[in-house]
Amino acid sequence: MSLQSDQSPTAAAGSARRTFLVRLNIVLSAIIGAVITLPGLSYVLAPVFSTSKREWRKIGPVNKYTIGDTVNVRFEDPSPKKWAGVTAESGAWLRRVTDDEFIAFSINCRHLGCPVRWEPGPSLFMCPCHGGVYYSNGDVAAGPPPEPLHRYPVRVRDGFVEIETSPIPLTTNHPV
Ligand code: FES
Repeated sequence: MSLQSDQSPTAAAGSARRTFLVRLNIVLSAIIGAVITLPGLSYVLAPVFSTSKREWRKIGPVNKYTIGDTVNVRFEDPSPKKWAGVTAESGAWLRRVTDDEFIAFSINCRHLGCPVRWEPGPSLFMCPCHGGVYYSNGDVAAGPPPEPLHRYPVRVRDGFVEIETSPIPLTTNHPV
């Protein structure tokens, strides 16, 4: 009796198909796992690898602003991407306090980042998303924001107001 393979050609083909399907299953499982895992992983690791820079941005001449007024100003993000479009701009509420003293509040609510608006009548910052309210000094007056409005450093140089940019200051202290 000759020594031949125990498998018939049909059985060998079936075995090869099974091996192929097992490998295909492993590859597809790895791809699906990566698709599910990567967004969460990048969210967790983004602050570690963040390259957001802090830069002074010229906002406008000092005499453009009236003492006591709070006005909306825009400036370019510290790390604008080519594809960012209008999202490459950030905003702040700039208040002239004295001849050479300014305060710049972030427009981003400390709850979930919606843009707050300044209401000069009651002298409050109001968030349209969940009813967050801030006093004129940025402290929380009502609603879910867990922290006061972020302030950007401001300075006057050569007759111009400058704001130091930073990543959008969302809170790290989220209520559940
Ligand atoms: S984002 Fe402002 S109160 Fe929720």
